[in-house]
Amino acid sequence: MNNLSRGLNWVEISKEALSNNVKQFRRIIGENVLLCPCVKANAYGHGLLECSKTFIEAGANWLAVNSLYEAEALRAGGVVAPIYILGYVEMSELVRAVELECRLVAYNREMIEALGAIGKPAKIHIKVETGNNRQGVFVKDLIEFVEFVKSFGNIEIEGLTTHFANVEDTTDHSYAELQLAKFNEGIKKLESIGVDVPIKHCANSAAAILFPKTHFQLVRVGIASYGMWPSNETYLSYLKEVGDGFKLMPALTWKTKIAQIKTIPAGEYIGYGCTYKTGHETKLAILPVGYYDGYDRGINGGHVLICGKRAPVRGRVCMNIIMVEVTDIPEAKLEDEVILIGCSGDEEISAEQFGKWAGTINYEVTTRINERVPRIFV
Ligand SMILES: Cc1ncc(COP(=O)(O)O)c(C=O)c1O
Repeated sequence: MNNLSRGLNWVEISKEALSNNVKQFRRIIGENVLLCPCVKANAYGHGLLECSKTFIEAGANWLAVNSLYEAEALRAGGVVAPIYILGYVEMSELVRAVELECRLVAYNREMIEALGAIGKPAKIHIKVETGNNRQGVFVKDLIEFVEFVKSFGNIEIEGLTTHFANVEDTTDHSYAELQLAKFNEGIKKLESIGVDVPIKHCANSAAAILFPKTHFQLVRVGIASYGMWPSNETYLSYLKEVGDGFKLMPALTWKTKIAQIKTIPAGEYIGYGCTYKTGHETKLAILPVGYYDGYDRGINGGHVLICGKRAPVRGRVCMNIIMVEVTDIPEAKLEDEVILIGCSGDEEISAEQFGKWAGTINYEVTTRINERVPRIFV
């Protein structure tokens, strides 16, 4: 990979944290449920291949990706664990997906016909539409769809799946209950025609943490595998309804170093658009990271950590540079390490905190750290 930001800013990933998170899930799902971390979107920005290998070594069973290209990268990197592709695979690429022994999400007849025509053994997981209204077959159409699939001898219905729309955004889980009821209805319908799909799955991180009844035979856990809670609401629900010592460890630390220290007088503007004017003589640290790297230009009121202390971002985030005030950190000097996300001393800047400053969520914060920023596994 071409690391165009090498040396300027980088991401450190703690393997210990990734392994801890796998073990936390294993404890709550037990030995008989398959643990399938979601490693799509460059493992939520943490680094696809290394994270996948670490998860498997720590005891995960399957891996979920979004695209065939991610699956290819895993196979090329020596990963032999079962891979489930959650997203769309183009008709012309289905042969390749079958060759790589990927499990495919299925919800339309065109795809089934194309898989049938390939003639080689193919494993699919039928997605049931229970209320997210993305991919999925309606419960009323499920039997017909399954009969259609069964007319192709080479296609195995290995899985039946659905995805929750509103399990992490709220402490009111009635919509999730409704979706689960629809999923169970689908399962019963298929049982009524003698079809018992071996691997049923619906749980994302929040559902897996909060509701054991969603575990079925496999859980697809994304965000929490990296040590982040899906939301504050999930954390609150967990404290209220479960609260049995489920301890996640955030795996990602994003770092840079000071490229320049300078002192500017009172009454000076900082950065593009002259959005910040100094009210007093100000010591600034210039940092070689910007929105190209994924440091959101919308950041408002953000901080970084220098020498274990908070330094506020001043002026607009530029493409490759940010300016932070270090007037109250007199010891800050050239090439000192800077924490953009992570811990330093007693201070922490979490991806959740960063997301609040940027008007978004932890999922987006870490997945948007440019793939070219080096990931260093420690
Ligand atoms: C189909 C599907 N399953 C599981 C997940 C994992 O969700 P989470 O990261 O909340 O655990 C996702 C994430 O977007 C998803 O799209």
